Amino acid sequence: RIAYVNGRFVPHGEAVVHIEDRGYQLADAVYEVWAVFGGKLADAEGHFARLERSLSELSIDMPMSRKALTIVLKEALRRNRVREGMVYLQVSRGVAPREHAFPLNPIAPSVVITVSMVDRTVSEAKAAKGVGVVTTPENRWGRCDIKTVGLLPNALAKQKAREAGAAEAWFVDELGFVTEGASSNAWIVDREGRLRTRDTNANILRGITRRTLMDVIAEEGLSVDERPFTPDDAHHAQEAFITGAGSLVLPVVSLDGKPIGGGKPGQVAMKLRRLYIERAK
Ligand code: PDD
Repeated sequence: RIAYVNGRFVPHGEAVVHIEDRGYQLADAVYEVWAVFGGKLADAEGHFARLERSLSELSIDMPMSRKALTIVLKEALRRNRVREGMVYLQVSRGVAPREHAFPLNPIAPSVVITVSMVDRTVSEAKAAKGVGVVTTPENRWGRCDIKTVGLLPNALAKQKAREAGAAEAWFVDELGFVTEGASSNAWIVDREGRLRTRDTNANILRGITRRTLMDVIAEEGLSVDERPFTPDDAHHAQEAFITGAGSLVLPVVSLDGKPIGGGKPGQVAMKLRRLYIERAK
């Protein structure tokens, strides 16, 4: 495997950043993940737009243009011979002696790219079975719209899910509503058959997969109610699913161990998965 670090392609095992990288010490870094179909970046522009926004919220300059980044991301895929998979990009503020406030003198951001292969047969089999989700109290900071690598609450939530034999955790806010997943957005098809997902004015990540799926849904003549739902709503829902660059559109068949939609993937979710993948290809 080959990784990209600050202008160089290096063997994955030898790819390193400095111990005083602010991403490492302070989570002063942002990231993006693209799904890759047939060597093509899914929702390429949407992820670039969000990257630019995350960076600007932290006053970090784009390390290079979208065009140059695209070339490097594609080169990383080519060198790893990955046509079906994912590509990860991380940009930190850079390396400086540890101090909380930004360095006084400008520093160069650290740019890291890694690539991973996805076996589509395996992921389709997983989707056809559906996955379980557990709930966990929302305990993240107030800027979940910035895609930072400060993911400790997400990592702990995901571990809780794994220990319960589930694939994802849904954060639940103090009002009892689901905000989003540890690495995905949360959706249901409610009792009345309406698609529901939380609005992005709330403290959640503006998912790119979520955004594209909105277009797919509109083209299908369906509509989305951007209203939060509770775990109880989900238990009574016809279907549930999650969206993200990793999960794409993935049916949820249980919540906290109780089945949703008879414990089988829903028709709407499976159809939206197929349509999303067709569009991304
Ligand atoms: N996660 N919400 C959170 C907290 C996420 O981390 C993600 C993505 C999403 C979905 O966003 P998108 O559709 O743009 O991928 C929602 C990535 C895949 C990750 O952390 O690996």
